[in-house]
Order: sequence, then structure tokens, then C-alpha cells
Amino acid sequence: MESITMMGSPKSVNETFLPNGTNGIKEDKTTIGILGSGDFAKSLTIRLIRCGYHVVIGSREPKCAADFFPHVVDVTHHEDAILKANIIFVAIHREHYSALWDLKHLLAGKILVDVSNNMRVDQYPESNAEYLSSLFPDCYVVKGFNVVSAWALQLGPKDASSQVYICSNNVQARHQVIELARQMNFIPIDMGTLSSSREIENLPLRLFTPWKGPVVIAISLATFFFVYSFIRDIIHPYFKNQQSDFYKIPIEIVNKTLPIVAITLLSLVYLAGLLAAAHQLYYGTKYRRFPPWLENWLQCRKQLGLLSFFFAAVHVVYSMCLPMRRSERYTFLNAAYQQVHGNVGNSWNEEEVWRVEMYISFGIMSLGLLSLLAVTSIPSVNSALNWREFSFIQSTLGYVALLISTFHVLIYGWKRAFEEEYYRFYTPPTFVLALVLPTIVILGKIVLLCPCVSKKLRRIKRGWEKSHFKENPGSAAAHVSPERVTVM
Ligand SMILES: Cc1cc2nc3c(=O)[nH]c(=O)nc-3n(C[C@H](O)[C@H](O)[C@H](O)COP(=O)(O)OP(=O)(O)OC[C@H]3O[C@@H](n4cnc5c(N)ncnc54)[C@H](O)[C@@H]3O)c2cc1C
Ligand SMILES: NC(=O)c1ccc[n+]([C@@H]2O[C@H](COP(=O)([O-])OP(=O)(O)OC[C@H]3O[C@@H](n4cnc5c(N)ncnc54)[C@H](OP(=O)(O)O)[C@@H]3O)[C@@H](O)[C@H]2O)c1
Ligand code: HEM
Repeated sequence: MESITMMGSPKSVNETFLPNGTNGIKEDKTTIGILGSGDFAKSLTIRLIRCGYHVVIGSREPKCAADFFPHVVDVTHHEDAILKANIIFVAIHREHYSALWDLKHLLAGKILVDVSNNMRVDQYPESNAEYLSSLFPDCYVVKGFNVVSAWALQLGPKDASSQVYICSNNVQARHQVIELARQMNFIPIDMGTLSSSREIENLPLRLFTPWKGPVVIAISLATFFFVYSFIRDIIHPYFKNQQSDFYKIPIEIVNKTLPIVAITLLSLVYLAGLLAAAHQLYYGTKYRRFPPWLENWLQCRKQLGLLSFFFAAVHVVYSMCLPMRRSERYTFLNAAYQQVHGNVGNSWNEEEVWRVEMYISFGIMSLGLLSLLAVTSIPSVNSALNWREFSFIQSTLGYVALLISTFHVLIYGWKRAFEEEYYRFYTPPTFVLALVLPTIVILGKIVLLCPCVSKKLRRIKRGWEKSHFKENPGSAAAHVSPERVTVM
């Protein structure tokens, strides 16, 4: 198909139907057609009118449908609407596409924008857009706008944040719809040919896909540490001294669980990079693929990091509320009474004072840095940073955050890690468990920072390969093709 026909007068495919378009010279209002008068059609009409277009609606019952549209909108029969417009949105469900079959001759040469969604991922053997294209091979079918809800469309052109994914086998038709999307204040993403339509149709059906793994890990860790703390801090005193500490469940046990999950997730973020670096060092190349589990792990570091931040932030709120509790007040009064009773004038313990001041301070600093990492992961902030700035914040400051939070826990635990009474049921205290992974990661990073290791890793990142070097000792650099030398 080389040309797009306009209202009886055949036009070149290079000509645009849009005002101010890439090739556009039209100053008058362009008419956009919409087949269907449902929720999507109504919202789309409002957005198009606000953006200066004239809209014609094609409905099976135009008289009834007209009541739901502004008076400036031309609500008419399908045939009439198709004749009046060249870009036509098909705002009806896939199941009813075949009802348009009789209008095939009128639709020939028009751009049909398929906005449909399905109920399930990969519901049909072919995508809706490909199905529409097979029904009307003489039309230029463009997939797009399906990721925007009718509600978002009504928010108006000021909401310029939404991305719409557009694809079509006809380059000109695709560019015209991309231009239309831009003029409607959307951010169009060119997805190439119609074979991308299946992926585009699956997009709105996704439910936090990249978050699934990290969320499962976080919930599993939280469950484990909650049960672990419950057994040690509630069940143990109950068995040993018949002491009922069940009141500790809502705050104390939860506030032991949250920070351990936070620091473990943070360690997992940086452990992935360490393993990746170890893989590259071991094979002496950066061109060998990581095993799939490591590839997936590397790809979900952002989600792991943000979950770590979430758990740490909630831990901080819990920690700040600790002194508010009635139990804390009773404990304080009882201690004061015993102090008076024991005729102790001053219970000031310099070491304890310093310990608490220090671990709280480290906690605050760590949270501050994690907040910075979280802010830079927001796409608009992220795009304002260059690669080096982003890497400095995410990698260098991220490691500093991990180091400082490790100090926070280390100083919180202090000498208690070496006291027998803290090993209830022969299990180590939670803060000892919390330290295991961060310590491994920090030690691993120290090894990577050793000049001999870091020098080799730097060379690998610049394209050096052990195998090349072995084959041609002394001339490794000369054998690395320029396009393979990438600076990470
Ligand atoms: C609150 C918070 C928010 C975060 N937000 C983001 C975010 O928005 N985006 C984001 O990406 N991360 C985010 N993260 C995760 C983390 O901060 C970054 O991934 C960070 O760059 C990891 O640093 P690194 O030094 O461990 O890894 P890197 O510098 O990525 O890698 C370490 C080494 O591993 C190797 N390597 C790692 N990945 C690859 C790869 N794909 N290909 C080849 N070699 C590789 C290289 O040898 C490299 O030197 C966030 C973390 C937190 C805590
Ligand atoms: N609603 C959303 O938020 C949203 C978001 C993204 C994509 N979409 C997609 O947009 C399309 C329309 O969705 P919608 O929510 O507007 O649906 P809807 O409210 O059910 O409207 C569908 C319209 O299709 C027409 N229609 C119904 N049966 C028909 C038939 N047998 N033959 C021909 N036309 C028929 C009707 O218009 P007439 O009675 O005037 O003919 C009806 O108003 C769907 O493909 C949907 O997946 C919707
Ligand atoms: C403003 C920042 C912070 C404050 C005020 C703070 C406060 C506290 C307090 C009061 C405790 C002792 C809790 C108790 O008595 O049960 C504690 C423990 C702990 N904190 Fe923090 N914290 C902060 C930030 C962080 C961050 C960012 C992390 C990790 C990423 C973290 C990880 C831990 C861990 C692992 C423990 C030990 C829990 C245990 O085993 O009992 N904290 N923190």
C-alpha cells in the first residue's frame, strides 16, 4: 500500500492529515473519526476537542449517542463518519470488529487506530490490531493509546506525563498517529511494526511484573525474621520464666523484623554487582553472558533497593514511636523507683550514652543517603543526571549507605553479641544475623577495590579479554575491535 486516500481524492502517503504535522500545511480544523460511542470514545472526544480537532462519531444509534457528546461533535452513522475522516479510532471491542465488515469498501485507504485491550495476557492467537488488519487489509492499521484509560484521557492536555506506544506496518501512518499523539500532549513511543502490538496490548495487563521477585523475597525474609524474633523474644521468656511478653508483638517484634529485611535487601542489591564482577574476573571477559539467575537479579536491583528503602523508612517511624508506648513509661518508672529504692543518685552510663548517640546518628545518615538514592530513581530526576552522576549516587553512595547502616547495627549490638544470655535457644540475636550479609558484601567490595583486582576489572570493562591475550600475548589491545570497547 503506497498511498492513503482522502475523502474521494487520492493523496500521497507522504501527505499528512494533521495540522502542524511533520509535512502539514493545513490550518483548518482536522476531522478525526471515532467508531463507537462508549466510555473511551467519550473521553477521547473531549481530549481531541481540547487539542483543537473536530470529531465525528460513528455510532449504530447516533440519535441516542448524541446526548452524551458536546454539541460541537458530529454524531452520525458509521458510513457517514468514515467518509468524513481519514484517521479513524476504532473504539469498540475486538469481538465487534467483524460488525464493520460491510464498511470495508469505505474504510479502504484510511488509517484505523486500534485502541483495544484484552482481559487476559495473550488472550487470542493474534493481537487485536493484527486481527483488525487481517479483516481490513486495505487499511493502515495503527496500534496505540490502549495504555491510557478513559479517565486519564479526560484529565486533559495538561497531563503531559503519559506515554503511548504506537506501532504500524506503514511508516507514514505510524508517523501521523505519532504526531497526533504528540499534539494531544502524550509522549509517543515508536514501537515499530505491527508485530509489537501483542506486547503493547499486554502492557496494561501487567501487574507489577518486575516487582514480583523482590516482593516475594521481602515477604519471605520478613516472615522468617518475624517468626525467629517471636520464638526468641516471646516464646523463650514464656518457657523459661513464665513471663508474658506478648505485648511486644505489634511494635518491638515488628521493629526487629523491618530493619533486618531492609539491610538484607540492601546487601542483596550490591551482592549482585559483586557476583557479576566476580563472573567477569573469572572468565576474563565482559562479553560472556551472566547465568540467567544473575541476569534477573541484576535487573531487579532497583526494586530490591526501593523495597529496602521502604522497610528502613517504616523502621524509622516505628523507632521514633518506641518512647511513646505505655510499656516504655512503666519500664522507665519502675527503673526510676528501683533506682530510688537502691539509693542510686546517678545512673548515667557514659558508654551506653555514646553507644545510643552513635547508632542513632549512623541510622539517620544511612536513611538520608538511601533517600537520595530513592529520589534519583525517579525517572524525571534520573534523566537530569548524566551516567557518571547517577553511577556515583547509586553505586558509591549506595555502598556508603550500606557501610553506615552496618555501623548502625554493629554499634546497636555492641558487646551483646558476645554475651551468652543473648543466645536464647542457642540462636544468635537478630542483629548478628542482620550483619552477616552486609559484612560479606563490604569485604567483597574491599577485595574488588584492591589495586590488582580493580585494575584487571577496569581492563575487562574496557573490552580486554583473557582468551585474546592468551592467544596473542603482548597484543591483546590490538585485537579488540573498536566497537567492542565500551567504557562502563
Ligand atoms: C533506594 C534505592 C534506589 C535504587 N534505584 C535504582 C535505579 O533507579 N536504577 C538502578 O539501576 N538501580 C537502582 N538501585 C540499585 C543500585 O543502587 C544500583 O543498581 C547500583 O548501580 C548498583 O551498584 P553496584 O556498584 O553494585 O553495581 P554496578 O556498578 O552496576 O556493577 C558492579 C559491577 O558488576 C558488573 N555488572 C553489573 N551489572 C552489569 C551488567 N548489566 N552488565 C555487565 N556488567 C555488569 C560490572 O563489572 C560492574 O563493575 C537502587 C538502590 C536503592 C537502595
Ligand atoms: N474504557 C477504557 O478506559 C479503555 C482504555 C483503553 C482501551 N479501551 C478500549 O477501547 C475500546 C472501547 O472501550 P469502551 O470502554 O469505550 O467500551 P464500551 O463503553 O463498552 O463502548 C463500546 C462501544 O462499542 C460499540 N458497540 C457495542 N457493540 C457493538 C457491536 N456489536 N457492533 C458495533 N459496535 C458496537 C458501542 O457504540 P455504539 O452503540 O455507538 O455503536 C459501544 O458504545 C475497547 O476496545 C477497549 O478495550 C478502553
Ligand atoms: C533515622 C534513622 C534510623 C533510626 C532512628 C534507627 C533507630 C533504630 C533503633 C531505635 C533501633 C533499636 C530497635 C530496638 O530497640 O528494637 C534500631 C535497630 C536496627 N536498625 Fe535502625 N534506625 C535508623 C535507620 C536504619 C537503617 C537505614 C537501617 C538499615 C538499612 C537500620 C537497620 C537497623 C537494624 C538491622 C537494627 C537491629 C534490629 C535488631 O536486630 O533488633 N536502621 N534502629
